[in-house]
Amino acid sequence: MKTTADLVGQDLHGKRVLVRSDLNVPLDDAKNITDDGRLRASVPTIKALTAAGAAVIVVAHLGRPKGSPDEKYSLKPVVTRFSELLGQDVKFAEDTVGDSAKAVVAGLQDGEIALLENLRFNAGETSKDDAERGAFADQLAALADFFVSDGFGVVHRKQASVYDVATRLPHFAGGLVGAEVEVLKRLTEEPQRPYAVVLGGAKVADKLAVIANLMKTADRLIIGGGMAYTFLKAQGYEVGTSLLDPEKVETCAAYLKEAEAQGVEIVLPVDTVISPEFSDQVETKIVPSTEIPSDWMGLDIGPKTRELFAAKIVESKTVFWNGPMGAFEMAPYSGGTKAIGQALVDATASGALTVVGGGDSAAAVRQLGFTDDQFGHISTGGGASLEYLEGKTLPGIEILDN
Ligand code: 3PG
Repeated sequence: MKTTADLVGQDLHGKRVLVRSDLNVPLDDAKNITDDGRLRASVPTIKALTAAGAAVIVVAHLGRPKGSPDEKYSLKPVVTRFSELLGQDVKFAEDTVGDSAKAVVAGLQDGEIALLENLRFNAGETSKDDAERGAFADQLAALADFFVSDGFGVVHRKQASVYDVATRLPHFAGGLVGAEVEVLKRLTEEPQRPYAVVLGGAKVADKLAVIANLMKTADRLIIGGGMAYTFLKAQGYEVGTSLLDPEKVETCAAYLKEAEAQGVEIVLPVDTVISPEFSDQVETKIVPSTEIPSDWMGLDIGPKTRELFAAKIVESKTVFWNGPMGAFEMAPYSGGTKAIGQALVDATASGALTVVGGGDSAAAVRQLGFTDDQFGHISTGGGASLEYLEGKTLPGIEILDN
């Protein structure tokens, strides 16, 4: 696999480099960036390229628009902060491969940077149809001389800007992709044991799919957040109006049995912070996780669970954490996620390798007052890091080897 180091070893004056970054940052209602971690992580590769004289065209996505322009998902709000972090103006194109993009790219001088509008405003980006994706990749490839893949958060997606474009241009792995893979390798190749994986968050279906494979490598799975309720239901308990994936209840029951057979510990919440609605303006209660009333919802793990999970984390030598333990953006439900963050910090201090994976989890730890250096590594990829840990082949990495 060639890397940016190989590319910047040559004179790039007069050359255009297409860089796929992951700029999928959380925005509040006023379009302020609430965590700029992914922007910061994307800067070094771009700077290395401009320093070598290249004109850099950055392509990225934001959220999950449905293949056509949707103002809600515009990348425009990231331009100012991105320019600040890069230390130079970033020119913005109002489309990805249309007239605006072509004009911006044509006017780009050596050492300048352009950001094109959300890739996912184009149906070809995420299409399952190879020809449709390929046609879009052709248009992207026509903009540049080289391709650098640096959006680690999307390397598990077989999408035009991640996969197909690499078959059309000389391609290189960016510094961020290289650094992320380096750390994750330490978790897959003989991790120090006990090895604990802590899972939470709201993308329930995505995360349930990874559990079967993680059971083969981890000694214990600690499950909180939105996905815990499907497990509690599988154990026969009512979960009220909590987040639930009814189609996965049986799968969870099977996982619980399999874990027992394989000697893998699955640790579930024993108490839950509940509320009548998804709001921080209403009363909350703490109840045993087995006694959630039918018209209340669980929004955080309770204090006994925090202690239980923290004890399991602190006695582990390797810990990977993906997904908040509750609706941490609202103060009444942030305690669980904060307690898990602290447990990882404590584990790091006593010599464990701790990795926080995913945009939401990284944003959570920073918003709750932790700093990056309190953890072994904060990955920019959630789904991508999980799939890597599962031992899956990631299309966006595999294609760089060809
Ligand atoms: C992420 O947020 O995990 C990445 O940016 C990938 O986004 P996606 O899950 O919408 O493909």
